[in-house]
Parts: sequence; structure tokens; C-alpha cells
Amino acid sequence: MQLSAQVVPNWAVDPKIHIYQSMFSQVYKGIKDSDKPSLIKQALMSSLANNGVASATASSTDELIVQSQLHVRNHILQLMNSMVLNCAIQLGIPDIIHNHAQPITLSDLTSALNVHPSKSRFLYRLMCILVQQGFFTKHNDVHHGIVYSLTPSSKLLLKDGLMTTFLLLLLDPLLTSPWHLLGTWFQNCASTPFEMAHGMSFFDLVAHEPVFGNMFNEAMVADSKLVSRAVVKECQGVFEGLKSLVDVGGGKGTMASAIADAFPQIKCTVLDLPHVIENLKGSNNLDFIGGNMFEQIPPANAILLKWILHDWNDEESVEILKRCRDAIPSKSDGGKVIIIEMVVTVDDDKKMNNKSTETQLFWDMLMMVCLTGRERTEKDWEKLFLAAGFSHYKITHTLGIRSFIEVYP
Ligand SMILES: C[S@@+](CC[C@H](N)C(=O)[O-])C[C@H]1O[C@@H](n2cnc3c(N)ncnc32)[C@H](O)[C@@H]1O
Repeated sequence: MQLSAQVVPNWAVDPKIHIYQSMFSQVYKGIKDSDKPSLIKQALMSSLANNGVASATASSTDELIVQSQLHVRNHILQLMNSMVLNCAIQLGIPDIIHNHAQPITLSDLTSALNVHPSKSRFLYRLMCILVQQGFFTKHNDVHHGIVYSLTPSSKLLLKDGLMTTFLLLLLDPLLTSPWHLLGTWFQNCASTPFEMAHGMSFFDLVAHEPVFGNMFNEAMVADSKLVSRAVVKECQGVFEGLKSLVDVGGGKGTMASAIADAFPQIKCTVLDLPHVIENLKGSNNLDFIGGNMFEQIPPANAILLKWILHDWNDEESVEILKRCRDAIPSKSDGGKVIIIEMVVTVDDDKKMNNKSTETQLFWDMLMMVCLTGRERTEKDWEKLFLAAGFSHYKITHTLGIRSFIEVYP
């Protein structure tokens, strides 16, 4: 966003500037007093504008103070975004509107939800914020009065919707409790806030808590369904000529199965931990192997790593990549590793819109809190590939906030 050059002439003598001057005294140490007011204004407006809060024409310190307060208040309350959405899913509101097959009135919604009579008057308020957030639309129908409908976003949150399990997983107390320990974690030597909270690593808990494990694996299945449509449709060239592919950490095999169906000439194998793939049946060109990717990866023309390396730190990721390199032939014989991950665009010329970058950074925090991993910029990826002995790579940005990276020996 372009900051307005509309600097108010009396900015420097605005009595409120002293509030910021004391806040910024460390930052602007050594800078001439007369230069401070305009520098402070620029810094404040730029930070607020980046967060979508400031009007770039805020023309007085009074206005900036109000906007700063709004910025902080809004962030403090962001938790409610997730919580009201969680409540809507728990109550099954998207499904009820969907099954109604036409826009629904509040009273029909109330009856269908089985809301306790003492709570029916609260439902309007819940719907009000969900409309504001873009999950439902509200309009005035000539016959029925106010009616609600789904939006493309809430269609993803139906009972069998592709993002519902993700929401339920991320808001499960097992995943929200480690966030309370983030500050303490910075001051001790624990591996992750998740381990501090649960006494074991994320994947150990997935293995030991069947309900949580099932929720995690189902969320991965849903994500693979979403991504595989785009992969099979838009990335055909990536799979052309391959005879075999191993999907390392391929979970329940959703992605491998989509590839196996779309490219019958490719023999696909899913490698995952034994408890993840137990009882799974393959097909003509799909099979499952239980194993540990840090020890051995079966040989194939190509290795697929979807959402694997972001779970692990750089040393661990280089280990996995080296195992992949051992498993594939030379580039001239068609060997490659195919990675589906984010390429973080923060501080990058090709910066995506603010929401996309923020979402990538949220994921980065999630990886820091729950696992030893991280989201990576292109430079970070390049370093890993070189350290694991690969010679070059190609990035295709076709999967929303995630990209397709082909890496060659
Ligand atoms: C974030 S999930 C990604 C699953 C799948 N690739 C997808 O995107 O839907 C990570 C996967 O790695 C598997 N995994 C974790 N440690 C592993 C190991 N040491 N060897 C093989 N697989 C492992 C997990 O069981 C899980 O299925």
C-alpha cells in the first residue's frame, strides 16, 4: 500500500507525539529530535497499513492512536474468529443450511439445530459475526424476511467438507494447549511446546492416542483430496514418463491413489509408519509399505514428499532428502524428487497478498509449536537441496499458498 504523503503540517508539534516518542526512544536513539516525528509517523502508518488497519491518510496523532488501539484490540480478539467457526461446525450449522436446500430463516435454523429454548435468542448474534466473517450471507426475502445461505467458504466446512477435519484438529485442546507454553519454551531447552504439554513428540501422540491420530490422518486425507485435484489436472507434465513413484510419508494413500488412477503406467507405493498403513489395501498399481523414511526409502523413478519436510528441522530434512537421493536414478534416467510445500514469500519481491503471506507465517508458527519443522523461503529450500547433494530445482506456483518443487540429482 502506498502511504499518503499527506503529512499534517503541525505533526511535529502535535502534543500526542510524545507518547510515541517515549515508546520509540530506543529505536530512534541517535536520531535528531526534529527528524523523529515524521519517522515515527511513517513507521506507525506503515505497520498499521500492512495490517489493514490504518487508513493511509490518517492525518493526526489522535487518529493514529485510535487506529493503533483498534489494531491491538482486533488482534487480541482474533481467537474468536476460530472459536465461533468451531461452534458453528459443532452445531452443524453449515450442514443444516445445506440440507435445507434454500436460504433458511433464523427460526427454521433454530428448530433444526435443536437449540435449547433459553438459548435461541443468542443464535442471531452468532450468525451475525459469521455473516460478517464471510461464512454465511444474509438477505431479506420478500416472503420469509431475513434468510441465511452458505458461501463458498462454508461449503468447505460441511460435515464431509474438505476443511472441517482440519478445523476440528487445530482447535482440539491437544493442539491449543501447547500455544500457552510458547513463551516459556523460548526460555528453556524443550524441543517443542507440544512436547512440553504432552511429554511426547507430535507423531508419538498420533501413534498413542487413537482418537487424535484418526483426526490427524483424516485431516491429511482431506487435504490430499483438495490438492490432488489440482495436481492431477494442472501438473500432468511432472508425472509424464515416470514408471514408478514412492509417496514418502504418504499417510492413508489419498494422493498416491489419485496419481495411480490418473497415470496407470506409474507404479505407486506409499511409505509410512507401520501403524498408519496397517489394514490398507492397494490396487493394480498402488501398494503400501510400512517403514521409517529416516532409514530406507524403496527405489523409484520419483519420490513424492507432500507436506513432509515442513515437519522437520533442516538437519532432519537433509537426512530425508539424502535417503530420497539414494532411492532415485540420475536425472538423465528420469530421477527426481517432487515436493509439495509452501515457499514463503515474506520479504520477497514476488510477495503474495497479505492474507497469503500471513497464512504461510501462521503455518510456520504451527510447525514451531507442534513439531521441529518450519516453513521455508526459496533460499532456505535451495540450501537444503544443495546440502543433500542435489544439483538443481524448479518451482511451480500452482497450488495456492503451496508450490510444486521438482528437485534433480
Ligand atoms: C503432515 S503428514 C503428511 C501426510 C501426507 N503426505 C499428506 O500430505 O497428506 C506427515 C506424514 O509423515 C508420516 N511420518 C512421520 N514420521 C515418519 C517416518 N519416520 N517414516 C515414514 N513416515 C513418517 C506421518 O505418519 C504422516 O503420515
